[in-house]
Amino acid sequence: MSYENLKVETRDGVAIVTINRPDKLNALNDRTVEELDAAFAAIGSDPQVRGAILTGAGEKAFVAGADIAELATQSPVDGKERSIRGQKVLDRIENLGKPVIAAVNGFALGGGCELALACHVRVASENARLGTPEVKLGIMCGYAGTQRLPRLVGKGRALEMLLTGEMVAAPDALRIGLVNRVVPKESLLAEAETLLRQMLANGPVSLRFTLEAVNAGLEMPLDEAQYLEATLFGLICTTEDMKEGTKAFLEKRPAKFQGK
Ligand code: COA
Repeated sequence: MSYENLKVETRDGVAIVTINRPDKLNALNDRTVEELDAAFAAIGSDPQVRGAILTGAGEKAFVAGADIAELATQSPVDGKERSIRGQKVLDRIENLGKPVIAAVNGFALGGGCELALACHVRVASENARLGTPEVKLGIMCGYAGTQRLPRLVGKGRALEMLLTGEMVAAPDALRIGLVNRVVPKESLLAEAETLLRQMLANGPVSLRFTLEAVNAGLEMPLDEAQYLEATLFGLICTTEDMKEGTKAFLEKRPAKFQGK
């Protein structure tokens, strides 16, 4: 697929996906959502790509929400289908099996905040502002914000954001755990990449199974989630990476993981 609204570049195993509609503050119209789906499907299936960074073009925004011009004319049937389509794209990102970091470079509002929530880790620039202002438009979150936000920051804090629609500035976002780190604007991408490469130095299967245990396990009763963890732990004991990682430690040398 050739992209109108995304830039995708890959360097040394890391894909950098930039949502590129800066004149509309990178608002997610249907085309952009479709392109994100295609881009992350390609990243997921490309063995050369081991992780991704998602960011927005321009000085002001990560993503300022779903495209309000499209939302304004939608029927109930369109609205439901648009919501389900968007949820599936965000699920694809969350369940990619490879780490995805949101580099939040400005406004992350509505669908933009929900998109950042679907990424595994959020690094924000000092000027970032996150929020779910849908209620101010007479609508509500439709890309699983009502679910991922309380799971990340707790029900009380999530409901404050969801019901007021007010934005949270970067320092407060850090304080409530909505973002993992706040860094100067100029070094945002470099910091996100450093963090991602720190993850990618580890065994790829370890990363994949850990993501699966956390994502699937959090939706299960604790005993079933622990059983899933034990099963994945047993499975990982069959990998070449497990042999290499433990052997390298005992031989006091860095491990060379193959993802097998
Ligand atoms: N959908 C469609 N277009 C959007 C948009 C969105 N979610 N957010 C911003 N834009 C457009 C604006 O309409 C404007 O387009 P124009 O130049 O053709 O008029 C352009 O992006 C720049 O936005 P502007 O509002 O002029 O920038 P600002 O710096 O004054 O304000 C915001 C920035 C983020 C506070 C403001 O754009 C805003 O409130 N956006 C909507 C946020 C929202 O409600 N998101 C949830 C949607 S469900």
